[in-house]
Amino acid sequence: MDKKIFLPALLALCLGCVSVSENPGRVVESADDGWEFRLETEDHWRAVRVPHDWGIEYAFKKESPAGAGGGALDGGVGLYRRRFELSPEDGQHYFIRFDGVYMNSTVSLNGHVLGNRPYGYATFEYDMTPYLADGENLLEVRVENAPQPNSRWYSGSGIYRHVWLVRTGDVHAVSDGICAMPVLNGDGSADVDFEVCMVDEKSGKTWTETRSRHIGKPRLWTLEDPYVYNDMLRVDGKDYPVSYGIRDIRFDDSLGFFLNGKNIKIRGVCEHHDLGCLGSAFNEDAMHRKLVMLKGMGVNAIRTSHNPPAPQLLDMCDTMGIMVMDEAFDVWRKRKTPYDYALHFNEWYEKDLSDMVRRDRNHPSIILWSIGNEVLEQWTHAEADTLSLAEANLLLNFGHSANEAGDSLHVNALLARKLASIVRDLDPSRPITAGCNGPEPKNHLFGAVDVIGYNYHDEWIPSVPSNFPGRPFIMTETVSAIQTRGHYIMPSDEMHVWPSRWDLPFDGKDYLCSSYDNNHVPWGTTHEHNLSVVENTPFVSGQFIWTGFDYIGEPTPYDFPAHSSYFGIIDLAGFPKDSYWLYKSVWTDEPVLHVFPHWNWETGQKVDVWAYYNNADEVELFVNGESAGVRRKADGEYHVSWTVDFVPGEIRAVSRKDGAEVLSELVRTAGEPASLRLIPRRFGNDLVFVEVDVVDENGVLCPWDMSMIEFNVTDGEIVGVDNGAQACLESFRPDPSDATHAMRSAFYGKCLVVVRPEAGCHLTAAFGDDKVSEAEL
Ligand code: GAL
Repeated sequence: MDKKIFLPALLALCLGCVSVSENPGRVVESADDGWEFRLETEDHWRAVRVPHDWGIEYAFKKESPAGAGGGALDGGVGLYRRRFELSPEDGQHYFIRFDGVYMNSTVSLNGHVLGNRPYGYATFEYDMTPYLADGENLLEVRVENAPQPNSRWYSGSGIYRHVWLVRTGDVHAVSDGICAMPVLNGDGSADVDFEVCMVDEKSGKTWTETRSRHIGKPRLWTLEDPYVYNDMLRVDGKDYPVSYGIRDIRFDDSLGFFLNGKNIKIRGVCEHHDLGCLGSAFNEDAMHRKLVMLKGMGVNAIRTSHNPPAPQLLDMCDTMGIMVMDEAFDVWRKRKTPYDYALHFNEWYEKDLSDMVRRDRNHPSIILWSIGNEVLEQWTHAEADTLSLAEANLLLNFGHSANEAGDSLHVNALLARKLASIVRDLDPSRPITAGCNGPEPKNHLFGAVDVIGYNYHDEWIPSVPSNFPGRPFIMTETVSAIQTRGHYIMPSDEMHVWPSRWDLPFDGKDYLCSSYDNNHVPWGTTHEHNLSVVENTPFVSGQFIWTGFDYIGEPTPYDFPAHSSYFGIIDLAGFPKDSYWLYKSVWTDEPVLHVFPHWNWETGQKVDVWAYYNNADEVELFVNGESAGVRRKADGEYHVSWTVDFVPGEIRAVSRKDGAEVLSELVRTAGEPASLRLIPRRFGNDLVFVEVDVVDENGVLCPWDMSMIEFNVTDGEIVGVDNGAQACLESFRPDPSDATHAMRSAFYGKCLVVVRPEAGCHLTAAFGDDKVSEAEL
């Protein structure tokens, strides 16, 4: 490749002004404003804020066709329209870009269909130029999320990510058409090759331009200093911004993962895309809040289960130093729910997969591509074979869809390899994996992936090196502990596997799970167990725990009225469960001492007290000043515990190193609920997340309290309320027609209200007869 020194960017870098150009090749503006919405069954249009999720306003319904797995919230058909003024100029082209619409959207401009896109997680755009009118234009989007269920979790409905208006000249770089390929040289310098796919709209001609840049002393992208280069490429007289990072990644079959030559464990969590009470409507602040909390617990990686994420998530991970496993699909040809993406796979997978890689490949945070999660094709074995390899090849190569080709070993093998080669052709720099829940080599997609990925099956870890010789390995999904914040089932050393087998029903009735690490699904493990496997097995590159946050839908092991998951380390409202401090104590150097449970029990009751701690040799527990003993974690242990008789008062834990106190933590018996403590937190300029604690007159959290709380704001709007209870049927958006008012019960003493404040915003929270707390937001 012709390597020209790339002067403009160097110059711009020196001048410190890289991202602004007076001569941009693509002008990108937000088109989030001005949308109106109605359900197909309604008559009236209403103004909505995009990103928008119409599903989150519904009441939870047992008979919702989405089922409890889909959050017990309906789908439906939604219509959007946006009028906008434009005076198209000659020689200019205008595109409308959607970061994501769930699902099956059809976009029209002034009555002309621009296109249809079934996959709800794809980013796509259309050229509006041929149908633009001078003056007022009408953009319409029809969203078909009626066939239900089509997802194993809550998908949300509508234009749930950002929308952009893109303007270019006749000759321009195609969107997502710039690829930066940084390579670190042996002498520590870096070369970055850029490929720019160009198009001339007049002739339809396309070609590729190349540029390159040599960097003598690159500032590497690391977890501690996630440096992102922002360059400007000049092509055909126009400037195009491009962001990338310089780092080296390597997966080793015996030593696991290396970032810039340093051996580190991938300490990841899986995340679905919803944002709790905001539903799936993307919001930067809500996503930032998630990432800040996860990073605080020591998480260094996210798996975007099981679909491409909002692009802004990747921007945040780039700049926050969080690695990403970017996942394409939950299904291929074989469906998991009646109306899921399997219906569209044959027609769309090539485009959806290649669009994902093209869109995302410049992000330094991405270290792995995943071509699928537990796709059912992994179970096709030789017995099912009905076709010779030659026949399968013929069918797939001559334009026959995979379905017509039938379900054979050879077809599925070719398909897996085809998916991998689509990714590899567009990005040879990153390895490919897939989350497989069959542990045997025959379940591992016919050798198509670079890094073997297990979902669960830690008991098979010792045989990985002999089963997959020479292949690096990662636990793509782990744990699936089930926990309800603030709920404790004793004795804590008794294990509760719910249901007892994956194919058996579960007859629990209280819709609660235990926050001691003693409750998980039959295919999962405790947190501690898997932590020890991963941290102590050098060839395991790391893990992605199912999940960081609870999400809407999939309330395993329960069914309706439960409608959100129990798997999170943090609940749906964003309140950490106790396991948060387990990970923080192992994954960070910050001093941790976390003692639980609360101290409000029946007098005389035997209570198991646990402590997670680090940076200390021992912890001593005192009950009302009297020692209950000193405990030390033995090798391979992650917590210490005591069983004590409950007496009202207080417990105090003290951690010590070499005899000196490191930390102490006090848990007191709460009295009657007396007031609300409002703790407003901001993670950006848009929303305030107000955590609400029901406390007694001494400020002690009342751990059993379920009081109904009434919120009112002036100069602002309430955008959601939650309390993290998986089976609470109160709506996340109690009254969409009056956003200044909401009711929500506390759950185990806590509640969340999310407010979009304007200047002078004032929040009041009231409960009981006359207990009112206030906050300026
Ligand atoms: C996995 C699956 C996840 C989720 C999880 C619950 O098998 O990949 O999407 O369903 O189980 O434990």
